[in-house]
Amino acid sequence: MKIAVVGKGGVGKTTISAFLVSILSEKGKVLAIDADPAGGLSISLGIRVRRTLEDVRNEIADLIRQKYDKVEIASSIDYKLLEALHEGEKFLFLAMGRPEDEGCYCQLNSMLREAIEMVSGSFDYVVIDGEAGVEQINRRVMKSVEYLLVVTDSTRKGFQVANQIRSVADRAVKFKKCALVVNRVRGQPDVEAGNFDFVFLIPEDESVFRFDVEGKPLTDIRDSPAFKSVKNIAETLLFQGL
Ligand SMILES: Nc1ncnc2c1ncn2[C@@H]1O[C@H](COP(=O)(O)OP(=O)(O)O)[C@@H](O)[C@H]1O
Ligand SMILES: [Mg+2]
Repeated sequence: MKIAVVGKGGVGKTTISAFLVSILSEKGKVLAIDADPAGGLSISLGIRVRRTLEDVRNEIADLIRQKYDKVEIASSIDYKLLEALHEGEKFLFLAMGRPEDEGCYCQLNSMLREAIEMVSGSFDYVVIDGEAGVEQINRRVMKSVEYLLVVTDSTRKGFQVANQIRSVADRAVKFKKCALVVNRVRGQPDVEAGNFDFVFLIPEDESVFRFDVEGKPLTDIRDSPAFKSVKNIAETLLFQGL
């Protein structure tokens, strides 16, 4: 099962992704992908990143510039990708990195995407912490996911952006179900499901903020209001059996 977490900046994508990784890794093999060029998921998962997919891409692009044998290059891609996989306590982690000259190597990009798709096939769960736009999921990371979680805060502007993302997603990403996740909720907000298949609420949680301020991995949180809500999301998605 592949889950992509998207939404505008600062709404809680990385927090939710980190919780999903720690919850799902109790249930099976998890690949965590940080697709946000700004990074951040590694810190929440307690991982020190040595190599990103962008590093791999640049190395291969160098080989192409040096006119290395194409067949040899193609056969080294899987191996190089494996080198960018980091081992967490109970999951593997891959950071996409910040693209420098996107578009120059379309064929290489699609080869890398194929390689990611192949690697992810050997995991039970793939959690993608996305950047604000959804197009990059399709272009850089994966052709399709089962679940798209669009995260928002409780502001009107947040909901507007979430709806915009949802319409772009219809064109740009292949997914089976799309959920709206309202994060940092206080009280009982009145939320309409609109076009979304599910709506989930996650409460404001003091311990999440404190862990982030102290730079402690969120994987150490096992029992807090936000953690419990994300657990409920994971269970609902698992129950769907997609
Ligand atoms: N439910 C929550 N309760 C309290 N603080 C939260 C909650 N979710 C996220 N935060 C805080 O909001 C900030 C942004 O969260 P983050 O997950 O990094 O967002 P994004 O990845 O969307 O940019 C962080 O400081 C984080 O600690
Ligand atoms: Mg983030």
